[in-house]
Amino acid sequence: MKTLLLDTKGDEYINICSDIIKKSGIVALPTETVYGLCANALDESAVRKIFKAKGRPQDNPLIVHVSDIKDVEKYAKNVPDSAYLLFEKFWPGPLTVILKKRNIISNLITANHDTVALRIPNNIIIQNIIKKSGVPLAAPSANISGRPSPTEFSHVVEDMNGKIDAIVDGGKCVIGVESTVISLIDEPIILRPGFITIEEFKKYLPTVKLYERVSNEINDKEKILSPGMKYRHYAPKSPLICVIGEYNKAASYINSKLETNTFCIIFDNESQLYKTKNIITYGVKEDPNTLLKNLYSALRKADSYNAEKIYIHCPEMVNKFSALYNRLILASSHNVIHLEN
Ligand code: TXA
Ligand code: MG
Repeated sequence: MKTLLLDTKGDEYINICSDIIKKSGIVALPTETVYGLCANALDESAVRKIFKAKGRPQDNPLIVHVSDIKDVEKYAKNVPDSAYLLFEKFWPGPLTVILKKRNIISNLITANHDTVALRIPNNIIIQNIIKKSGVPLAAPSANISGRPSPTEFSHVVEDMNGKIDAIVDGGKCVIGVESTVISLIDEPIILRPGFITIEEFKKYLPTVKLYERVSNEINDKEKILSPGMKYRHYAPKSPLICVIGEYNKAASYINSKLETNTFCIIFDNESQLYKTKNIITYGVKEDPNTLLKNLYSALRKADSYNAEKIYIHCPEMVNKFSALYNRLILASSHNVIHLEN
């Protein structure tokens, strides 16, 4: 298949993409979090193409993206007041809310759950296309299943060129990590940590909890609330080892493990501590937003250098680092070294 690579200089991309969507095609579009692989959520044949292009397991449901709060009740029912509090505060933005689904949403999208995940993304490109095509867009991250999510146009081209109808270049995603997923079906619970932290939600939902599986290993037989969590995710091609600890301790541990093609993903201000030139930096420890923004490109960069093993120096799982830690334990298959301070 020939994939159209589109820029956003004029308005042409809006017509091209909405025509593709209306004809059951699939397009990759930027959002503020990561690029999404988008199809008409009300068209099963189009949604099937998403699962195929990504190689995504059928039991992992998709998020439905809309452009207006008024659309929520078209696709969800029994919407609690607490949901509207969150919409007012965080939409458009990196928040996905799980609600009871209406029948118009197919079981294919929800992987047979009776719930639907909804989000209004804060990016004008995808918003333009939702509005022009007049339908909600089902969109997972636009990577091959298991790979780091795409935060740059080149990442999407790498994974999807030749497999989908079009890719729109929206530059680097401003947030760089996926939305926070919160379920409001029973007591509010965060199923996937993201850019918005539990502390921020607590102002509106004092009882909100973080699902314990977010930071623990999952037993295969366990029934879990968010199917996405049980798969190897966000992973570079070579083994990844996460190292948590003070600067000098982390550096001397990693230095003792270096082999020829080992790459180190570390903080900006610590390169001098490492006995290798195979260094990729992803921001400073004090600035979690930059670390989140650069994480996936750092993992992909290590792949592009043909790293055979990757060590990443990462912060403890606290507050804003929850999302980072959650992605890293999945990317490393729980290979985390905690060094004593
Ligand atoms: O930022 C984002 O959320 C990006 C952009 C493109 O919007 N999308 C994204 O989609 O990350 P995806 O498919 O890569 O991740 C969706 C997550 C998965 O962990 C999935 O299991 C969970 O949301 N999910 C979707 N529907 C659900 C449902 N009904 N119940 C529980 N979890 C659900
Ligand atoms: Mg994903």
